[in-house]
Amino acid sequence: MQGRTTFLLITTLIISLFLCVVLAQHQDEPQLVTIRYAPITIVIHGGTIVTHDLEFKGTVVIKDGKIVNVLHDDQSYDHILKQEEKEDRQVRLIDASNRYVMPGGIDPHVHLALKFMGTISKDDFYHGTRAALAGGTTMIMDFAIPAKGETYLDIVNEYKRRGEKLACADYSFHVGITGFNENTAQQMKELVENHGINSFKFFMAYKGVFQVNDEELYNGFKTAMSIGAISQVHAENGDLVVKGQTRLFNEFNITGPEGHPQSRPSNVEAEAVRRASEIAYSVGNAPLYIVHVMSKEAMEEVAHAKAKGYRIVGEPIAAGLSLDDSVYYKGSWMDRARFVMSPPIRGIEDQKALIAGLKNRILDLTGTDHCTFDSEQKKMGLGDFRKIPNGVNGLEDRMSVLFDKLVASGELSPSDFVRVTSTEAAQIFNIYPQKGAIQVGSDADIIILNPNATRIISAKTHHQNIDYNVYEGRQVTGVVEVTISNGKVVWENGQLNVEAGSGRFIPNKPFGKMFRGLQREQETKAPIKV
Ligand SMILES: *[C@@H]1O[C@H](CO)[C@@H](O)[C@H](O)[C@H]1NC(C)=O
Ligand SMILES: *[C@@H]1O[C@H](CO)[C@@H](O)[C@H](O)[C@H]1NC(C)=O
Ligand SMILES: [Zn+2]
Repeated sequence: MQGRTTFLLITTLIISLFLCVVLAQHQDEPQLVTIRYAPITIVIHGGTIVTHDLEFKGTVVIKDGKIVNVLHDDQSYDHILKQEEKEDRQVRLIDASNRYVMPGGIDPHVHLALKFMGTISKDDFYHGTRAALAGGTTMIMDFAIPAKGETYLDIVNEYKRRGEKLACADYSFHVGITGFNENTAQQMKELVENHGINSFKFFMAYKGVFQVNDEELYNGFKTAMSIGAISQVHAENGDLVVKGQTRLFNEFNITGPEGHPQSRPSNVEAEAVRRASEIAYSVGNAPLYIVHVMSKEAMEEVAHAKAKGYRIVGEPIAAGLSLDDSVYYKGSWMDRARFVMSPPIRGIEDQKALIAGLKNRILDLTGTDHCTFDSEQKKMGLGDFRKIPNGVNGLEDRMSVLFDKLVASGELSPSDFVRVTSTEAAQIFNIYPQKGAIQVGSDADIIILNPNATRIISAKTHHQNIDYNVYEGRQVTGVVEVTISNGKVVWENGQLNVEAGSGRFIPNKPFGKMFRGLQREQETKAPIKV
């Protein structure tokens, strides 16, 4: 009797296993994988290790997804090889001679599969994170923004499901707050305490869709501050944008893409930066993060606020640091429509000012605002620039474009580059030194960058899910030759080796570095009662 049961049990097991294998082979959709790192030890030697504050020749040892050793040049790694051999582990040696070994990029500003302007952005969590890894970015931060009728928790859960199924690199979220009522504070608190959120974005533009008014900003900033979360703003005066658009379209009969930058000039952006910073200060110096600072005038408001002791950081993006507004005035309608994003790309003087600002820490870190719409989607705005879906690519090329523009040009040092592409984001969003560092115990998110190699950017070779690239034809110095994500080599020899679902959600803890000393500051500046 017992023998028969065992026999049946074993047979059932064998059949189920067989079925599992067959079914797995027939599934071409991306699958959830549970092994997140290869059972192999990686030793990167011969390179120059660059962190946000140091540059030295050395060796990095990676095991089980983590950095387990960092050796300086005079230290031999032979003992590590012997130890691994004793434990019967495979070792892979990577020679990084004449290369930089840097923390993988963190892009704090992307929109993957965003529902926006009547369509959905093309790069989803799979295509976006894949492209990111090919360009040396190993973590992204997206914005979970609820549609009408959806709760904040609903959208965060939906984004987590998408990430779990599709993301090839690690990710976390900011949450877009699109209004403020009696329930909002409670929901924000819940997200911070139990769901790994530590930043909320408020839109001062996109009237009738996402836009919030000053009172909502005040209440939102105050709530965020009280729970240790950063307030972020899209700084453009949305009312002035609508007036400007109507004026250009109706009074001047400007319907093409050139109407876009002219309807929302720099003063419209700068006014919003100033207003947001004064509101943040008024609630008790709430930490404030200005996303996509595009103009010199807006940057000067950030500088002004910093000089007054406000807790404010500014994020320029790759497009703003490397393109200029001539793109709106030359070429075909489509050539010009591809660059439509908000705030718009500004003049060459603005570009130079943003680079100088980043160099001198008036601005703090870089993102991309990656939000891709293909040519077909851009056509939604034929005959009316107001309907062109807003967004440009950047996630894949940010590291190269910025290395070229900032380091190869001599404006920033390699360490500064690491700071503005990775470490600062990790510190601000409170995930340092798990991310943004080359230290024992940090996640093994590492790139090997050849500062002497060049490449030409093109839609023909990129991994983004659109038919063009706003950097088409640009030659850049500084090529990411190897990307390691969670201890696995995912990009080398121009080949990707990624798995959908292998990326992890990284919870962002509250009360990060922008909150240091805040309580004491508030006590010293408390109102006087006589
Ligand atoms: C790049 O090449 C130059 C010589 O052309 C060399 O001096 C420099 O060390 C190289 N960069 C790195 C990081 O090895
Ligand atoms: C507006 O411009 C279009 C060409 O872009 C032209 O065909 C049309 O006549 C103009 N309308 C007015 C009222 O000027
Ligand atoms: Zn954005």
